[in-house]
Amino acid sequence: MDANRTIFSAPGKIILFGEHSVVYGHPAIVTAINLRTKCIVTKSSQKEVLLSISSNYSLNASSTRLKKKYIMNKEQKEFSEQDSNYEQPVNPAYYFITEKVLSLSTINKHPHIHINSEIPPGIGLGSSAANSVASLASLSAFMELELSMEELNELAFEAEKIIHGNPSGVDNTISTYGGIQFYKEKKFSQLNIPDFLSYVVIVNSGIPRNTKTYVEKVAKSLEEDTTKYQKILEEIGELTAIAKSSLMEGNISKLGNLMTQNHLLLEKLGVSLPILTNLTNSLVQLGSLGSKLTGAGGGGCVIGLFDDYQKANRAIEKMNSRGFQAFMSSLSERGVQGE
Ligand code: MEV
Repeated sequence: MDANRTIFSAPGKIILFGEHSVVYGHPAIVTAINLRTKCIVTKSSQKEVLLSISSNYSLNASSTRLKKKYIMNKEQKEFSEQDSNYEQPVNPAYYFITEKVLSLSTINKHPHIHINSEIPPGIGLGSSAANSVASLASLSAFMELELSMEELNELAFEAEKIIHGNPSGVDNTISTYGGIQFYKEKKFSQLNIPDFLSYVVIVNSGIPRNTKTYVEKVAKSLEEDTTKYQKILEEIGELTAIAKSSLMEGNISKLGNLMTQNHLLLEKLGVSLPILTNLTNSLVQLGSLGSKLTGAGGGGCVIGLFDDYQKANRAIEKMNSRGFQAFMSSLSERGVQGE
């Protein structure tokens, strides 16, 4: 790879089972999807470290195309917006990643880090982890710093902590290694599932939310009524373990059923919204074998599992006609990779 121009991309994700309970040491099943963040690093045109961000969201209600340029500000320990009077905070993880890689590298270069993401932020598809993984990979290659996959994943986890407070590490791990993973307490195994026909439809409720807020909401509920909420989290954990067996057996109707049960438990946990439950019910009426919210909840996306391509397509059309962005995602996509 030409170290004057490095390009890496990393995938977003959906959690098939076990969001929130995974924060408390229970397992989750998660898959990499076909929306990616690309990070291109070139030599900066100035004697400054530059960051520019553009997005090409394919699943956003407003489908905005942002283009922003920032300059590394070591005094303030942040990237500050260039050519603009108004302050819009940039994700602080970028400063952490850049500072870390530049300090570990032995060479002296001014990079221009360009992020281009297809993954809309704030809807549970792992955009922040994909941004961190892609930028760590591309910037370290540009700075001729060799990072093992473990080191990259660990640094991406540190970046996730800056954004989300107390994350489980599942988002950065799936974005780094890809595939379909059974994840528990920072350890994961790739699931080599048998070939069976399954289609996952993702529907964006159009309601943005913040993972940190919802992780904190669950923590607060646990504090207030430990017995009740611990039981719900345990039940999600048990259900996820059963889902792993169903996945390995290719028992798709059982998987669908477990998804719906998982959603009901997430409702009890207090992270769903009526609109999310309505969307899951609609997907089931449209022929899905089961449906649930995915990610932290409070908005974001729901997923529906189908064993029939035409039914899945019709569900997408129906959701689109109701004004919701919906698409079919392939599963088990590749993790971080260079171009
Ligand atoms: C976020 O994608 C999933 C949560 O379980 C939080 C986490 O695992 O860090 C809600």
